Amino acid sequence: MNIIPDFIARRLVGNRAHWPKVVRLSAWLNRVGLYFLAQARISLRLIYPDGRYTSDHDFIVSQYALQDKIRAVLARYRADGSAYKYFFGQPYQGMGMAGIFGDRLTDYRFDDYELRRFIRSGDRVLDIGCNCGFIGILASYRTACQTTGIDINPYMIEIGQLAAEHLRVADLVELRAGRLQDYDPGPVFDVVFSFATHWTDDNNYRVSIDDHMARMASYLKPGGMMIFETHCNDVGNPEFYAAMEGAKRLFAFDGFHKMTDSDTRELYLMQRR
Ligand SMILES: C[S@@+](CC[C@H](N)C(=O)[O-])C[C@H]1O[C@@H](n2cnc3c(N)ncnc32)[C@H](O)[C@@H]1O
Repeated sequence: MNIIPDFIARRLVGNRAHWPKVVRLSAWLNRVGLYFLAQARISLRLIYPDGRYTSDHDFIVSQYALQDKIRAVLARYRADGSAYKYFFGQPYQGMGMAGIFGDRLTDYRFDDYELRRFIRSGDRVLDIGCNCGFIGILASYRTACQTTGIDINPYMIEIGQLAAEHLRVADLVELRAGRLQDYDPGPVFDVVFSFATHWTDDNNYRVSIDDHMARMASYLKPGGMMIFETHCNDVGNPEFYAAMEGAKRLFAFDGFHKMTDSDTRELYLMQRR
């Protein structure tokens, strides 16, 4: 199902010059969709004049209000010439559950990476280069783990904090704006997520795989688990695989666990020795 007529879609597909417009259009459609979703709930008031189920509306109606708050953050983000823009000024992460538009959909990734299997209630989870922190937020929402997320981009962190409040898990989620290189809490985490962040396009984190693995190991309790997602261009790269062999000093793992994102990335489950 695509509401963009085929003859227009054919002209847009694959033409990079149109990508910003397509992203703007998609963000707008997302917003319109949420508006009607909110209206669908609000309309029910017509058949319940006694106010019954009014509180049921809150989640959907506040989801629409959340978009306004996020738009205000994004306006400041776009105006900040020094902030790197991953997705044409929209968040890198989206979250279907909270109606938040973004490039990569957290809900899908959470299930595809089978994260639920590796996290127990009360676990301490660290999400590095977390962007909006949505993967950790969803982990806390679904498993009641304690999540810490760190990202250098303060605007994405602000959006994450709004989403955590909206989902009522702000007490379980700590999101901090800062450089990973300056974060040194010691080996206190049960699980670390390193998703598409062992080096970054914005050049704010460029270290060797060896350095990255040592940093991740320093965050984990012995026996703790790192869940590691590659970039697309690591896949099939002999240098990357050679560096991963070196990581076996610190982590026990046996090749990659599965291909993800339509077979474009690899996911590794790595246990701290
Ligand atoms: C490709 S995105 C991946 C985001 C997230 N891990 C995911 O997979 O959805 C890389 C993220 O790393 C963040 N980042 C870049 N350099 C960083 C640094 N030195 N410290 C912390 N975060 C950083 C960026 O702001 C961006 O959100």
